[in-house]
Amino acid sequence: MRDILPPESGRWRRFTAVFADVVEAAGYQQVIPPLLEDLGVFTRIGDATDVVTKEMYDFVDKGDRRVALRPEQTASVCRAFAQHRPPVLPWKVFYSGPNFRYEKPQRGRYRQFDQVGIEVLGVDDPMLDVEVIALGWEFYRALGLQQVTLIVNSLGEPGDRSRYVEALRTHFEAAGEQLTEQSRVTLAKNPLRVLDSKRDPDQPFIATAPQIADFYGDDAAEHFAAVQAGLQSLGIPFTVEPKLVRGLDYYRSTIFEFQGGTFESAQNGLGGGGRYDGLVEALGGPATPGIGFALGVDRTLIACDDEGCFAAEPLQLDAFVVDVVGGLEAAAITAELRAAGLSADRGYDNRSMKAQMKLANRSGAACAVIIGEQEVADGSIIVKPMRGGDQVTIPRSGLIAQLSETRTHD
Ligand code: HAM
Repeated sequence: MRDILPPESGRWRRFTAVFADVVEAAGYQQVIPPLLEDLGVFTRIGDATDVVTKEMYDFVDKGDRRVALRPEQTASVCRAFAQHRPPVLPWKVFYSGPNFRYEKPQRGRYRQFDQVGIEVLGVDDPMLDVEVIALGWEFYRALGLQQVTLIVNSLGEPGDRSRYVEALRTHFEAAGEQLTEQSRVTLAKNPLRVLDSKRDPDQPFIATAPQIADFYGDDAAEHFAAVQAGLQSLGIPFTVEPKLVRGLDYYRSTIFEFQGGTFESAQNGLGGGGRYDGLVEALGGPATPGIGFALGVDRTLIACDDEGCFAAEPLQLDAFVVDVVGGLEAAAITAELRAAGLSADRGYDNRSMKAQMKLANRSGAACAVIIGEQEVADGSIIVKPMRGGDQVTIPRSGLIAQLSETRTHD
């Protein structure tokens, strides 16, 4: 687990703000699920996923309940939907915040990591799939990322998916002991996930595995074709990747992933999502279609560093108040500046003028506001621009106007 310190932390705040701007403009509203829930909520993510079987931070609480820190937020959002039954559909929500997975930490993979995401419940229209994917795409553009690629696939309708899963089971079972032990365990639980294996001995069998597209019924084929046509009409470039299955078991129909251009393959998933039409029902709600995505904040910011966009910015104050008289004067001036909507910090502890000017410099403030004995006595104040220009002595009553002026010209 890591600390995110300034100025990096400021970038995290802007990241979430940019995301909220993009999705709120499309009618999504924020939902804030709890960090900790009944373990049962998360086991619905699927018992063939490492996220559930190996990586969950679960424990028994003081009330003897089996609880877990959330490994993702889709299951929580669906649980919240099943519990509160929002009256108006579709229910369009977004979220942001930390998730926990007991993974092996490395660049772009952490045990506590943040996601921003959206979920839409209650509509099965392929044009919604297009909207959801397009919002992810638009957000990466808003950050300035150029090298993100989009891959899409469809897992078909539940019937298509089951027939495909059986065909995969037969195919992989024929490989017998040649398949790695981990994949044989996965095969027993969910043959689809064997396609996700990155282990070398499994690759020849993955390469010759049956293809999902051969199992689509008319509905799935039509839905997926409409999604592709929609993306094309919006000018969003994508590749159909028939082996994309995604790491969680709840997916049906459309699935997609955004990949970064600057990562090793195991960490290049910047974000992903898809349809999970059975999840609300599995959590005790009515049968409800659902689709969404989550984007990894940690990983996306590494991609921004790699591509040289959306950089951390040092704090920019309007003023730093240098106090060489002590007493209440500096407190009053600082409060006055802040009340006028200007950002201001100040020196403390009666430090020397030189020491305070150094702090003023480091604070990134546009100007230092200096009060000495003389200024207090004659009701004036000194304003010294920190990025070039001469200092001026002005009447104290003109301070706000002077600084607001500097701000507009900055
Ligand atoms: P996911 O693919 O497990 O999907 O996670 C989404 C993104 O979270 C990943 O692409 C990655 O950027 C980031 N991520 C996952 N694990 C870690 C980690 N250990 N360290 C850093 N970043 C990580 C989901 O979580 C689904 N809930 C997405 C979804 C929403 N599907 C439908 N709706």
